[in-house]
Amino acid sequence: MSKRSVPKKLFLLGAIVGCLFSFGAFAFAVDSAPAGGELCKECHAAEVQEFSSNVHSKAGAYGFAGASCESCHGASASHASTGDIAAISNPAKIDVEAASAGCLNCHSKGKGQMFWHGSIHESQKLACVACHKIHGGNDKLLSKKTETELCITCHLDVRADMFKRSKHPMRDASTPSGEGKMTCSSCHNVHGAKGEKLIDAKSFNDKCYECHQEKKAPLLWEHSPVKEDCMTCHTPHGSSNDKMLVTKVPRLCQQCHMQGRHQSGALGMNSTYAINRGCLNCHSQVHGSNNPSGAILQR
Ligand code: HEC
Ligand code: HEC
Ligand code: HEC
Ligand code: HEC
Ligand code: HEC
Ligand code: HEC
Ligand code: HEC
Ligand code: HEC
Ligand code: HEC
Ligand code: HEC
Repeated sequence: MSKRSVPKKLFLLGAIVGCLFSFGAFAFAVDSAPAGGELCKECHAAEVQEFSSNVHSKAGAYGFAGASCESCHGASASHASTGDIAAISNPAKIDVEAASAGCLNCHSKGKGQMFWHGSIHESQKLACVACHKIHGGNDKLLSKKTETELCITCHLDVRADMFKRSKHPMRDASTPSGEGKMTCSSCHNVHGAKGEKLIDAKSFNDKCYECHQEKKAPLLWEHSPVKEDCMTCHTPHGSSNDKMLVTKVPRLCQQCHMQGRHQSGALGMNSTYAINRGCLNCHSQVHGSNNPSGAILQR
């Protein structure tokens, strides 16, 4: 046996194993194309050109050594030599779970996607690519021009609320009125969250306090439903009542205050107590009062 035959045999063995692997699940490691998509250029010049400005072309710099077209499309060498479409994987066409798993190979550690598993969008069988478009996508690689536009394609009830009289400024950012200052993700993490309804905070109130801090301050005279849940009186997206209220005053108040020293319940609409802005004319501090004599929320 010559000195060189051992490595040769090993090489042969390696080649055979390599071939087997290229038909199996481990193809990734062996059948690899250069990171920049050199192999793909010939037939996909547009994709390769566009990809050079995609954050994914720099995945290596984020610690994903060897990232390439194959990170998402799987082993590609045999497709690249034949152009056979059956030999390549397109995340937009394969099984939803498998497609998302491919993305989560790199995106499960970050805070953003940490709660994806078990989230409502996952359980509704939305893949990452239901909202994201990798090649030629918009900001954040979204498939639509704005986030709001994306969400309201499915959430028509929210779309309707957004156009009501009183609403959070979530409409198209291009409008001059300062609309578009907020997006759905000001409050929701669509990828899953600890809180209910994909709210990206411990509770609904904690989310509201992020921007309406003054409502959080401890008060001498609290109005107990306020600290419990803002949503008792407000809707989050929009309402045809003033100040995004779920119901008009006085009826809003009368839902809880049926009986009072001035018989606040079931007042006729022309009662002194219910007239005009009703209760708020006198009880203006509906979120609570810091005035020593503000016990009835009147100052
Ligand atoms: C010899 C030409 C050729 C080369 C090289 C090539 N492809 Fe393709 N590819 C094709 C053809 C032909 C199609 C099918 C027609 C189309 O969609 O443009 C295709 C389609 C695809 C698709 C879509 C598959 C689908 O089911 O929708 C992907 C993804 C793809 N190629 C990735 C790659 C990657 C990654 C490389 C480099 C590793 C590569 N291709 C190299 C010819 C090639
Ligand atoms: C981060 C994941 C990812 C990487 C990396 C990636 N692709 Fe894609 N590719 C996709 C997804 C997802 C689609 C489905 C359509 C979309 O989202 O743009 C796709 C679709 C395609 C298509 C089908 C044409 C189309 O627009 O539907 C081709 C061809 C393609 N990719 C080539 C490449 C080439 C070449 C590279 C490397 C230069 C590459 N891709 C790198 C995720 C990726
Ligand atoms: C090889 C690892 C890898 C894979 C696979 C991968 N990504 Fe990424 N992705 C990255 C890195 C690295 C970044 C840049 C750092 C960051 O934003 O986390 C990134 C950024 C992003 C961004 C943010 C873009 C921006 O402009 O801020 C989105 C959205 C995204 N990826 C979606 C996807 C989707 C969808 C898939 C599956 C089709 C996918 N990624 C697959 C590594 C990967
Ligand atoms: C229902 C639509 C939707 C789905 C499904 C979705 N995303 Fe997103 N994604 C968004 C929106 C909107 C943003 C921008 C808002 C933000 O930054 O949270 C975003 C931002 C991102 C970002 C950049 C910001 C960050 O959190 O790091 C990454 C990375 C990302 N998505 C990856 C994924 C991956 C991976 C999946 C699948 C497991 C996925 N997305 C599924 C809508 C979606
Ligand atoms: C492709 C369709 C689709 C898109 C796009 C989409 N969603 Fe959803 N979403 C659903 C479905 C289906 C459900 C579950 C049924 C329902 O509550 O309407 C859901 C549920 C939700 C819920 C309710 C959570 C719960 O626990 O009840 C929230 C909040 C939500 N989506 C926010 C968003 C936001 C924000 C966006 C945009 C970034 C978005 N969705 C984009 C389909 C979509
Ligand atoms: C100001 C914070 C905030 C913003 C901004 C916001 N939401 Fe919500 N959203 C909430 C809260 C709080 C709830 C829970 C309401 C409840 O259960 O009483 C909710 C509930 C939902 C639900 C489930 C209940 C329903 O109404 O169908 C969906 C879907 C939803 N939001 C989608 C969206 C979309 C789409 C956008 C962007 C257009 C958006 N949200 C913007 C706070 C917000
Ligand atoms: C990301 C910041 C942000 C968050 C979070 C937020 N808001 Fe707002 N809110 C705003 C802005 C901005 C306005 C509009 C102020 C303006 O136009 O003068 C507003 C206005 C309002 C208004 C008055 C609407 C009107 O017609 O005058 C109410 C009521 C309100 N928010 C309630 C809530 C509730 C309840 C929550 C929690 C579910 C919440 N907000 C979460 C930023 C936020
Ligand atoms: C008991 C019902 C009720 C609850 C609970 C409630 N609000 Fe209000 N809120 C109102 C009423 C009524 C108005 C209108 C006041 C007016 O027009 O003078 C209002 C107005 C507002 C406004 C616009 C005017 C202003 O005061 O800045 C904001 C913002 C607001 N509420 C935020 C919140 C937040 C945040 C919470 C939870 C911490 C909350 N509200 C809980 C009844 C309520
Ligand atoms: C979800 C039920 C609920 C709603 C809606 C509600 N309140 Fe209250 N309110 C309470 C509770 C509970 C207290 C505390 C009562 C107590 O401690 O005896 C309270 C206390 C008060 C007090 C102080 C009186 C006292 O005895 O401490 C006033 C004034 C008041 N509310 C006015 C209003 C007005 C005005 C509205 C409408 C804008 C309203 N409330 C809506 C539940 C509600
Ligand atoms: C004209 C001014 C005025 C209007 C309008 C008014 N209140 Fe009052 N309210 C008062 C005064 C003053 C007190 C204290 C009465 C007392 O101590 O005898 C009070 C007391 C209360 C109390 C706590 C005392 C109790 O046991 O009843 C509640 C709750 C209340 N009002 C709710 C309402 C509601 C709900 C409305 C609207 C339907 C309303 N008020 C309209 C002046 C007003």
